[in-house]
Amino acid sequence: STQPLTDTHNRLHNYVRLSLTSRCNLRCTYCMPEDGVPLPSQPSMLTDVERYKIIKSISSRIPSSGPPVKIKLTGGEPLLHSTLPPLLEDLSTLTADIGLTTNGILLSKKWDGIKDYIKSVNISLDTVDEEKFERLTRRRGRERVMDSISLASKTHRVKINCVVMRGFNDSVTDFDQILSFCEANSVECRFIEWMPFSGNNFDGKFVSMKEMKETIRKTGREIDDVETFFSDTTKWGETERGRVGFISSMSENFCGGCNRIRVTCDGNLKVCLFDGTEISLRDAIRSGVSEQELGWIMDNALGRKHFKFAGAEDMHQLAERVKGNRPMTAIGG
Ligand code: GTP
Ligand code: 5AD
Ligand code: SF4
Repeated sequence: STQPLTDTHNRLHNYVRLSLTSRCNLRCTYCMPEDGVPLPSQPSMLTDVERYKIIKSISSRIPSSGPPVKIKLTGGEPLLHSTLPPLLEDLSTLTADIGLTTNGILLSKKWDGIKDYIKSVNISLDTVDEEKFERLTRRRGRERVMDSISLASKTHRVKINCVVMRGFNDSVTDFDQILSFCEANSVECRFIEWMPFSGNNFDGKFVSMKEMKETIRKTGREIDDVETFFSDTTKWGETERGRVGFISSMSENFCGGCNRIRVTCDGNLKVCLFDGTEISLRDAIRSGVSEQELGWIMDNALGRKHFKFAGAEDMHQLAERVKGNRPMTAIGG
């Protein structure tokens, strides 16, 4: 099919979140239990050749009159994917904007092999305090993350992802410290509302965007709203000292402008972060489907995409519902 890749709500899906591995070198409490999560078997993982086929098929469905397809490499930790540079080289032959979401631990080490292929980097940093960093991630590495941020921001757009958790990093001091760090390094800071995933114990940790803004005001910063692009996950604001964003999946969801589909590391298509339904593109490819047939499979899945899955009123219902889904590391966020 050569029709644009739209769903029944007429949303064009030009943004693929491609998870390369569910392995991670950190153990963040908001993401996984201490012992990690079970990993898919090696033969069930997509090969890079299969990944290229999928992305090629998707990009052939994005009208050339509009913006190019956007590919976000996620994980687990995508920098643990050993063949990342050659994969990037292949993907870069397709017209695409490629971005990376990483915990930053290995970024400075891998930087030279990837920097020319990617347009932007999102780095997780939930606290700048060393003791808290180790408590949250259950590992060492704050210095390496900091070094990665300063290296990448020399040439690339860098956004910091900070998941706000009640009683952990929601005080005036916490906001002031991380904002000061981002301002000093000229990187954009995004505060993320805690989302429920399978096994991450949602209860009591949620802090709304509204409350985050109130606490930021108490640091002495006034936030002026900046207009949000309809498909952006982020509501942007500006202070006298830099740009600050909010990802309010729960209190003010952005499903209406959703342009995202996901491919898990073992080749399942997910049309929504919170929808447990997964369709195996890997099995289809291994059974020898054509690019057109692959397109039909995606159309079919998108045809069943709900208009909205995230939301405020039913936050606890959502937490209940995602319990049967695979964990965050398998989905890629
Ligand atoms: P850019 O495309 O670089 O603006 O970033 P992004 O926000 O799409 O990507 P990133 O991987 O940095 O994710 C930041 C946060 O947004 C994570 O907590 C993701 O889980 C969340 N996120 C990304 N896409 C979606 C989505 O479609 N729905 C929901 N609810 N959350 C999302
Ligand atoms: N809620 C919100 N965001 C989360 N992330 C990981 N777990 C959660 C959660 N429970 C974010 C991290 C990472 C991105 C891929 O997803 O900040 O940067
Ligand atoms: Fe898109 Fe689903 Fe996220 Fe809503 S919850 S923005 S529909 S992926």
